[in-house]
Amino acid sequence: MKSFLALTALAFVSCSAARNLTVVNNCAFTIWPAHFTDPTSGSSRPDYPTGWTQESHQSVSFSVPDSWIGGRIWARRECDFSANPGPNSCLDGGCDGGLECTGTGAPPATLAEFALGSAGGTDYVDVSIVDGFNLPMRISNNKGCPAPDCPVDLNPNCPAELKGPFDSSGSPVGCKSSCEAGLGDPVNNPNCCTGTHGTPATCPPSGVAYYSYFKGNCPNSYVFVYDNSGGAPQWVCTASQKADYTVTFCP
Ligand SMILES: *[C@@H]1O[C@H](CO)[C@@H](O)[C@H](O)[C@H]1NC(C)=O
Repeated sequence: MKSFLALTALAFVSCSAARNLTVVNNCAFTIWPAHFTDPTSGSSRPDYPTGWTQESHQSVSFSVPDSWIGGRIWARRECDFSANPGPNSCLDGGCDGGLECTGTGAPPATLAEFALGSAGGTDYVDVSIVDGFNLPMRISNNKGCPAPDCPVDLNPNCPAELKGPFDSSGSPVGCKSSCEAGLGDPVNNPNCCTGTHGTPATCPPSGVAYYSYFKGNCPNSYVFVYDNSGGAPQWVCTASQKADYTVTFCP
């Protein structure tokens, strides 16, 4: 009886301590989504392969643990894994590992970032274009919590020195951040918040090249390293609400 109770309790915990995460591809083309978890952020991992092919208008759902911290989801564009199973098997967002990623994606790539149940019971989610942009994205939820997004396609009007990579027809499929594009001093860089610009006080938005292009189009996303300081919005949900999340590409 004792072991029966223990098993029942375990089954209950493993079932209730998970969220339903849905990835929707509303783009008019195939994408190759992926997820990765920072290995220093704990051992919780989504119950799904770390990369997959997703056709236009397909949706996939899987469970992620209540305690998924340091997690990210992004999508790769224009992949061919047969030729080249490394980061440049895709035009952007490519990773080590081929279809299933063993690391993060190559910038530029729009990121959905997750820290569920962190800091004593809060879900933090955000859309980050700190490492550049490749696809519009929204992270919605079923509990009425704020939904971060970058819904605008930033590629066509991307500033020339940030624009690219380009597809075979010459259209941009990415828009790099000014840091990623290598603008500015390599050591003390106000775009990257490094060196003498390494604190929120010394790395203000006014020093980040093209800040207004990104923030003006995507006010509900993080666009540079310290964008979340000084009163920028945070997208939170009380962890006990156990929100389910949907990441929509091309919302
Ligand atoms: C997860 O969410 C999707 C989309 O809302 C839904 O179709 C699916 O049934 C849900 N799965 C579970 C296990 O709740």
